[in-house]
Amino acid sequence: MISRPRRLRYNSTLRKMVRETRMDKSSLIYPMFVREGENIVEEIPSMAGQYRYSVDRLPYKLEELERAGVTSVMLFGIPDKKDELGSGAYAQDGIVQKALESVVKRFPDMYFITDVCMCEYTSHGHCGMLKGHDVDNDATLELLAKTALSHVQAGADMVAPSDMMDGRVLAIRNRLDENGYEDIPIMSYAVKYASSFYSPFRDAAGSAPSFGDRKSYQMDFHNRREALKEALTDVKEGADIIMVKPAMSYLDIVREVYDSVNVPVAAYSVSGEYAMVKAGAEAGVIDEEKIVCEMAASTYRAGASIYLTYFAEQIAEYMDKGLIG
Ligand code: PBG
Repeated sequence: MISRPRRLRYNSTLRKMVRETRMDKSSLIYPMFVREGENIVEEIPSMAGQYRYSVDRLPYKLEELERAGVTSVMLFGIPDKKDELGSGAYAQDGIVQKALESVVKRFPDMYFITDVCMCEYTSHGHCGMLKGHDVDNDATLELLAKTALSHVQAGADMVAPSDMMDGRVLAIRNRLDENGYEDIPIMSYAVKYASSFYSPFRDAAGSAPSFGDRKSYQMDFHNRREALKEALTDVKEGADIIMVKPAMSYLDIVREVYDSVNVPVAAYSVSGEYAMVKAGAEAGVIDEEKIVCEMAASTYRAGASIYLTYFAEQIAEYMDKGLIG
């Protein structure tokens, strides 16, 4: 026998030497929920171990993340009031804007990315302005551009539109450039599927649509070629990073997008993936630590070089322990 693949698996030093996928903490992004109020750290019922923080409590968590070596976060806002036009999304004293103003200067080594969308702020829970029973794409662009600009003015380092309106990357790029923010990157949730894996998040953010679903703007999960159309369109519109979401059931798409674009690819392991792992571990049927490592490595193996995950802090710890990396 000439070919013996087992030869390179003989011991852990050798296995690490020939490892094909390597990752480090700098590629992790931790999604966080910030809410109105004071002195609030409340656990999200659908996402054991994840919390909503009031602005004054955010620094404690940021310090912990920095200590763990996780230096990038994605902020989601949970406003007190919602309205038809989602005005809290672009209000100067909106929740994300207030959070940024209070933490950005205190954490110069942290990188602050904001989710740009309307669904947490609209009374109907859809990701844009309504026209009848559907979302009005073109009218929503103005609100998204305003939201992105207000986040950047409040100190965001990068904006990440997740609404899935056509043309929003260009609308945001233009608005930022007109205001002198040509160096602020856009990470587009370009390939975002209409997925049931988001349901714990909607509970966390109170953003479930009050009628209908998001299938007229988010993608049909039967489609693969359409992912390339979305990704390539956004690159043309000026997206600096292309995200695929969810991650775990969509790794074929991560690979395909990676092969088709010349920008970094991010993958978002969403709330449903997190909740399933937590529930499985709680039931004693899986080993959380090992499953989380395998999920992470497979995402990087598929082509992602940026990983958004609620497990970011744990993964950083697993990297320190040498379980993954
Ligand atoms: C906002 C948004 C959602 C998520 C990220 N940004 C919810 C949705 O589209 O319904 C989901 C994140 C997760 O499930 O972890 N549009």
